[in-house]
Amino acid sequence: MTATLIDGKAFAAGLRQRIAAEVAAMRDRGITPGLAVVLVGEDPASQVYVRSKGKQTVEVGMNSYEHKLPADTAEADLLALIKRLNGDPDVNGILVQLPLPGHMDEAAVINAIDPAKDVDGFHILNVGLLATGQKSMVPCTPLGCLMMLRDHLGSLSGKRAVVVGRSNIVGKPMAQLLLRDSATVTIAHSRTQDLPALCREADILVAAVGRPHFVKGDWIKPGATVIDVGINRTEDGLVGDVDFAAAREVAGAITPVPGGVGPMTIACLLANTLTATARVNGLPDPEGLTP
Ligand code: GUN
Repeated sequence: MTATLIDGKAFAAGLRQRIAAEVAAMRDRGITPGLAVVLVGEDPASQVYVRSKGKQTVEVGMNSYEHKLPADTAEADLLALIKRLNGDPDVNGILVQLPLPGHMDEAAVINAIDPAKDVDGFHILNVGLLATGQKSMVPCTPLGCLMMLRDHLGSLSGKRAVVVGRSNIVGKPMAQLLLRDSATVTIAHSRTQDLPALCREADILVAAVGRPHFVKGDWIKPGATVIDVGINRTEDGLVGDVDFAAAREVAGAITPVPGGVGPMTIACLLANTLTATARVNGLPDPEGLTP
């Protein structure tokens, strides 16, 4: 069997179209959503992401505010900028690109963002709201994965899901979202015993470990839906966390790298910015953009 490809690029394009239509309707009422992106330092990968975010923000009709600070910026100066953005009514979403330089306390910086403007969903309040099944801002990458899973599978209820990776950005919130959709969820990580056997039980397998081709074809249950969150730069170009060539012969459906989860992440950032704008203006959440 050759797996169906889950086309994240096309899905994200459709999502951006819907977002653009919602933004146009908001602008007719005198509201223009605004997203502020803060980049500290010159990490090349981060620079690429930030440029892409700014471009797509403008393309859907939102205002984009970019703040680039030198790598040796004092934490107090970054916190002062966040405070200013928190108080700026034109800014509905704030994203501080991670990783931050080593001298900064990442948690302190994230938790300085107004939770209502925390479009990354990393603030401790949003983490807690998600974990307790309450309305929150949801991290973009897991939200994008959830949208693709629901689109492909319909209901996730009762399905066995294995999330490989326990990061705060992807693994943990992904598990929360799957649980919320009534999947039976296991989080696996580097210390998990007999990881291949565990993965073989998964109807839904999410790979988010950041190691190229870590998940092998014979770890996959025939017919399973595989979501590959990895973006690894190798000599062979950009590859995922899953051995794609082998996996696609076993899986029922799989996201490619590139063109799978990646494009969905930025589309979901725009979705979250729209949701944050709606909420601060007392409007209902836009349809289908929140879990
Ligand atoms: N660095 C890598 N992924 C992310 C993300 O989703 N948000 C932010 N702020 N930084 C990142």
